[in-house]
Amino acid sequence: MQYLVTGVAGFIGSHIAQELLRRGERVRGVDNFVTGTRENLKELGGLEFQQADLRDLAAMRAACRGVDYVFHEAALASVPRSVKDPVSTNDANVTGTLNLLVAAREAGVKRVIYAESSSAYGDTPTLPKREDMLPNPISPYAVSKLGGEHYMAAFYRVYGLETVSLRYFNVFGPRQAADSPYSGVLAKFISMMLEGKQPTIFGDGEQSRDFTYVDNVVQANLRACTAAREAVCGRAFNIALGERYTLNQTFAVLRGITGYQGEPAYAAERAGDVKHSQADITLATQQLGYAPPVSFEEGLHRTVAWYRQELAKSGVAAASSRA
Ligand code: UD1
Repeated sequence: MQYLVTGVAGFIGSHIAQELLRRGERVRGVDNFVTGTRENLKELGGLEFQQADLRDLAAMRAACRGVDYVFHEAALASVPRSVKDPVSTNDANVTGTLNLLVAAREAGVKRVIYAESSSAYGDTPTLPKREDMLPNPISPYAVSKLGGEHYMAAFYRVYGLETVSLRYFNVFGPRQAADSPYSGVLAKFISMMLEGKQPTIFGDGEQSRDFTYVDNVVQANLRACTAAREAVCGRAFNIALGERYTLNQTFAVLRGITGYQGEPAYAAERAGDVKHSQADITLATQQLGYAPPVSFEEGLHRTVAWYRQELAKSGVAAASSRA
């Protein structure tokens, strides 16, 4: 089998590619390095890499040639980035996804697995979120990811291209970028706390999230490839842990793991923010055989260990450049 991972130099894409390569599969990856990094590719020995942008249909045609399965992880993945610049988010996430689907269909790809987002649910009060609830996106980011999901379903219905959408809930883990204003909260908090810097909580810290360790998401993707067509194609599934933690609780757990002594700073709530988020993962459990292998705390321990190692490496590099 030949696999294609879009966004392969990004956080989640690089983890999916790494697991496929570990299993001895043939993997091609594309990335435009807007948010992905060459550093992330270093772990991916054996990868066939093409630098390409999803907005370039010809490049997507080249990427899909001879491919059996596509994992579509490439996106501009940030609520605040989309609030600031909705057009580029739409271009990458909606037009990019459409180009990929057109190319995948022409190339006779067997199945496309799509990185959808829990932001599709928006701020509806009902918890946990179930797939049969009406979507209610708030931010341009959420609209763009949901647009991609609708294209996935349409390509299955209209053209018979097999597609599966996985609605990820706040994924975290090693290699998540921590140095951008658009970084996910756990990447930011962990790297800051390890450096003894004070993190800022937007709002009162009582907002909650279903934080999901990246290995759980990798497992869901691989199962989505092999699950029965009638059970999964043209549909969307929540991929999460099925629990929720407030930012205040999470900060306290991280203080224990990182050894950070200080308190967080508090600032104004962020525009477009959702208050609470938690998934019902029954459907993915039943139809995909999804069973998240890594708990929240275990995931935090593994993630802190990774950032600690990175920090030690950059400390060594800084020291040797001074010498
Ligand atoms: C949202 C989506 C998620 C999507 C992600 C892409 C929801 C529920 N989740 O995540 O599915 O993949 O966008 O980026 O819509 N925060 C701080 N301090 C910081 C940074 C963030 O307090 O320095 C807060 C935010 O205000 C928010 C929470 O932490 O309340 C999580 O933020 P973030 O990690 O950016 O992810 P979401 O916006 O929840």
